[in-house]
Amino acid sequence: MPNIVVIGAQWGDEGKGRIVDLISENVDIIARYQGGNNAGHTIVIGKEKVVLHHLPSGILRDGKISVIGNGVVIDPGVLLEELKGLRAAGYRADSGNLKISDRAHVIMPYHREIDIARESLSRGNGKIGTTGRGIGPVYEDKAARRGIKFSDLIDPESLRERLSSVLEERNMYLEHVLGRKPLKFEDIFSEYEAYGKELKDFSCDVSSLLNRSISEGKRVLFEGAQGALLDIDLGTYPFVTSSSASSGGACTGTGVSPTRIDLVLGIAKAYATRVGEGPFPSEIEGETGERLRKAGGEYGATTGRSRRCGWFDSVALRYAAMTNGISRLAITKLDVLSGFDAIKVCVGYRYRGKLLGEFPSNINILKDCEPVYEEIEGWKEDISSVTDFGELPAHARNYIRRLEQLTGVTIYAVSLGASREKILFLSDLFQ
Ligand code: GDP
Ligand code: IMO
Ligand code: MG
Repeated sequence: MPNIVVIGAQWGDEGKGRIVDLISENVDIIARYQGGNNAGHTIVIGKEKVVLHHLPSGILRDGKISVIGNGVVIDPGVLLEELKGLRAAGYRADSGNLKISDRAHVIMPYHREIDIARESLSRGNGKIGTTGRGIGPVYEDKAARRGIKFSDLIDPESLRERLSSVLEERNMYLEHVLGRKPLKFEDIFSEYEAYGKELKDFSCDVSSLLNRSISEGKRVLFEGAQGALLDIDLGTYPFVTSSSASSGGACTGTGVSPTRIDLVLGIAKAYATRVGEGPFPSEIEGETGERLRKAGGEYGATTGRSRRCGWFDSVALRYAAMTNGISRLAITKLDVLSGFDAIKVCVGYRYRGKLLGEFPSNINILKDCEPVYEEIEGWKEDISSVTDFGELPAHARNYIRRLEQLTGVTIYAVSLGASREKILFLSDLFQ
């Protein structure tokens, strides 16, 4: 099996963790390439549910190597808790099966403070609805070249030097722009020095490891967080996250070139959700939206916030497929749509009386787009125990086939539940 990137094809929470867990059985290495603990990837095994924030979703599989790439940002206190939780649940999570890029950037207490303070001060259009984990501010510092890397965290001298060179300026910003209390150097230093000691053994030159492994014939799965429409460059800016969630991020976020990646698998829900602010043309207001939220359990895996719900948007999906080179799709949560008389799919946008077939690059246009829907007949049956695509109710099969036509992407699998066995395969991943 070749090397594959798995990405969210919508606004996040598509079920990436669930699908990565499934596919990781057949790979050797699972590498996260961007984002931080803003991600919440849920994996259900039997009666047990695990939510991963930092760790690649392959960590639950025996005999695999998990990698945190240079494009990821790490909150070390949160990561240590996550590792502890996994070990307590009986999983292996040590420096033998987890490698962390020494180039990854570290989320510091002032990043969280700045994120939360900005969100609480912003009014109206300025609010992004972030997860409050410090993600925007840590990527800002990376771009501004005042970041603290994992290699600094694990070296007390380097940590002292880097922290002392950035804290004064960050404190001025906190105090004089955001009206918060400045943070104390010694408090941060001693807390983070201790994290560094605990995490030192995980440090690795991940780019060398991955490239060497690929040369030896090992198979790598690159796991994205967030989704294509939350990508910093190609998403619905400014209502995006601050990293490259798109498939291209797999290269810059690990140091593996595009020529070594064979396939991009997009994950999409059979409907759509979005957490936080920003345009969402196919959003469903009122009772139907609430019904979908309840049926799908659409509450954030990281913040517990209610997810906004909407119909499947084939215009947005085609855009995601184009900009990410999605060659196969996995559709999740089809079971959630059982019981609807009719299911809508957004097939175009109407903007000032004009019909648009393509996703607008200008957010001022996107926010005023009205969805144009096609209605597809629903089905009543509970489909969660179906084991073969041919056994699905005809209308459920029609729905899936219609999504395939509208998106122009071959569907690889359809998921009918959160646990491992509730999956139908429709095509081979690599043919
Ligand atoms: P991720 O961030 O993309 O990994 O997705 P999340 O874990 O945030 O959200 C997906 C949610 O849907 C989780 O609670 C999963 O357990 C659940 N889930 C995944 N696939 C299915 C499915 O096919 N059917 C149902 N009912 N739930 C699913
Ligand atoms: P997974 O990997 C859904 C959203 C936030 C907010 C915006 C910016 O589980 O799919 P940030 O804290 O990143 O600065 O917030 O991005 N967001 C997500 N939405 N799933 C996620 O991750 C998300 N990570 C960030 O709600 O709108
Ligand atoms: Mg999630």
